Amino acid sequence: MEAAVATSRDARGRAASHPRGRGEKSPPDRKVYMDYNATTPLEPEVIQAMTKAMREAWGNPSSPYPAGRKARDIIDTARENVAKMICGKPQDIIFTSGGTESNNLVIHSVVKHFHQTRPSKGSLAELCSPLDGATPHLITCTVEHDSIRLPLEHLVEERVAAVTFVPVSKVNGQVEVADILAAVCPATCLVTIMLANNETGVIMPISEISQQIKALNQKRVASGLPVILLHTDAAQALGKRHVDVEDLGVDFLTIVGHKFYGPRIGALYVRGLGELTPLYPMLFGGGQERTFRPGTENTPMIAGLGKAAELVTRNCEAYEAHMRDVRDYLEERLEAEFDKQRIRLNSQFPGTERLPNTCNFSIQGPQLQGRAVLARCRTLLASVGAACHSDHADRPSPVLLSCGIPFDVARNALRLSVGRSTTRAEVDLIVQDLKQAVAQLEGQA
Ligand SMILES: Cc1ncc(COP(=O)(O)O)c(C=O)c1O
Repeated sequence: MEAAVATSRDARGRAASHPRGRGEKSPPDRKVYMDYNATTPLEPEVIQAMTKAMREAWGNPSSPYPAGRKARDIIDTARENVAKMICGKPQDIIFTSGGTESNNLVIHSVVKHFHQTRPSKGSLAELCSPLDGATPHLITCTVEHDSIRLPLEHLVEERVAAVTFVPVSKVNGQVEVADILAAVCPATCLVTIMLANNETGVIMPISEISQQIKALNQKRVASGLPVILLHTDAAQALGKRHVDVEDLGVDFLTIVGHKFYGPRIGALYVRGLGELTPLYPMLFGGGQERTFRPGTENTPMIAGLGKAAELVTRNCEAYEAHMRDVRDYLEERLEAEFDKQRIRLNSQFPGTERLPNTCNFSIQGPQLQGRAVLARCRTLLASVGAACHSDHADRPSPVLLSCGIPFDVARNALRLSVGRSTTRAEVDLIVQDLKQAVAQLEGQA
């Protein structure tokens, strides 16, 4: 296990935490990065693949001569590797700029499809249609990333769509399948639920939702209602647990390179792209990506994404086992060093699966708000929640509140997420760092 992980020691991990000799004190400027859910560094092999593509495959992939063909071959291989990582088909993958674009593309595409396939105004078909009004209805949950929540809220503001935000269970942090089904109405055309939550790591029951939606779709088609498509944002799950689009039974799946040691681009999986599942482009241009996402392909970034995906396919089990070991050790040390009563593990819900690398916890005490603790840490680099909310003053995470974490506990929350190269020795260091930060805040240091 260690051997497999050793090949993937990451660049930032190394820069942040140089291995030192026994007995050597860590210098005051030594940093330990534990924010791998915010982003990951590039694997050396990814950098190599990108550099090679930049040097040798600079041709336009649409050009028929050798420089173009070389770029095209690299893109084809990357597409195969990305597809393999999720057990999908290469022809069902399109490259995008990242998770935000992939998520927006799904949402806007489904709304457009709803309108395109509705009977025209005043037609006999419309008069006989069981649809109540012409507004598409989408279902999501209350703990999604902003790149899902905000486009949906925008559609509601613009009166282009109706959206149900299903609350997650305060007992297990998951969205309940029954609540999704209860939200379905005649105009429902999309259910979008993340595969793993970025703050708690909680895994959502996507396969179960898919089975229920499939059964429902059979009845809906027979009654002339739109099929409900299922999307999952897998940004946080990839590289941390096995992801299989067949097991999940999804129509769309979002892929984000920089969460699994790849570059800052992404991809979208669409089951039977353009044949079984409709996709409408947001951009119009040169026809690349079969017109679904035009624009001259970014060959080096795509090469890097393909390499990162290849590494995940090859090593995911080892990555997962290593991260789980270090994360569990972290939780053990926190409870041992701080006294079990003071530590509240916010992401441990009984009976609920969670990502192997994520530890969301609070150190209880009136002066110990998450941001205040982090500000006094000398070694630890972590966050209090999603990176895109880092400017939200001292408001507790809405995700934690949705999961039933009490206000005072949520306000003290810290999100630590370990990576492929995080060690137990680094855990020991940051636990001591947290202790000195807490002592400072409580006026003992
Ligand atoms: C769950 C989830 N979805 C989507 C994204 C968006 O990815 P990007 O900002 O790279 O577009 C993120 C990034 O933090 C994420 O955590």
